[in-house]
Amino acid sequence: MRLQKFLSGAGVSSRRAAETMIKEGRVKVNGNTVTEMGLIVDPLHDKVQVDNRPVRPQQKKEYLLLYKPAGYLTTRDDPFGRPTVIELVKDANARVYPVGRLDMDTSGLLLLTNDGELAFRLTHPPCGTEKEYLARVQGLPTAQVLSQLERGVELEDGMTAPAKARLVKGGRPTSVVALTIREGRNRQVRRMLEAVGHTVVSLKRVRLGPLTLVGLRSGQWRRLSAREADELRRTTGTTDKDKGKTGEELPVPALSRKRQKKRILNK
Ligand code: URA
Repeated sequence: MRLQKFLSGAGVSSRRAAETMIKEGRVKVNGNTVTEMGLIVDPLHDKVQVDNRPVRPQQKKEYLLLYKPAGYLTTRDDPFGRPTVIELVKDANARVYPVGRLDMDTSGLLLLTNDGELAFRLTHPPCGTEKEYLARVQGLPTAQVLSQLERGVELEDGMTAPAKARLVKGGRPTSVVALTIREGRNRQVRRMLEAVGHTVVSLKRVRLGPLTLVGLRSGQWRRLSAREADELRRTTGTTDKDKGKTGEELPVPALSRKRQKKRILNK
């Protein structure tokens, strides 16, 4: 298999980050530094190292769904020692990394996995998985504003792709807007809303493709069921051939789905 796929499959990083590591000269195969893309490795016989540390081939696939509270960084390590999302899933004993990024001040649904192929598919167009956010904004967005958000907003890094926007709760001084996007640019939701005149006061991601926060409280995590992981792989077109075992199904949540949804909207 190709070296970058071997590295992402082994849970070292996403495929794109693996390509960067290779280009940076951090990867050795059988003692020789490799900087070219596409080298074929034999997972059983070749010795692969990253930063001089051996990489073990293909591990059990892990898929963790975290309800991230605001105040945590979406990264594995922070050189300044700030709290990271990895600390919140420590008891899972799984070497996972976050798929995409939520800002430190954003809360909500974050997927963590060692399935590099799926992570790549979820974060790279053309697939563009739907991500739904609830934004509390200053002021009361009009129907024209919502329609502009849907058609596209000119940002400094270009026009945004078509989106879905809905007023969940209109009011003053603040309102709640549900915005569904498929892109994943830096601080995109905040910038889109700012561009149409509504500063974001707080932001929460409530859905990623078919996954929601139902059943989780802020700071909690759970493993995806095998069915959920399959569904994600299917919707993103991720190949099934090396799919791994996933966690057990969650116990049935105590609250009804309707009440849980209501609680999520109100948080
Ligand atoms: N858009 C934002 O502005 N922030 C996030 O954390 C996610 C999407």
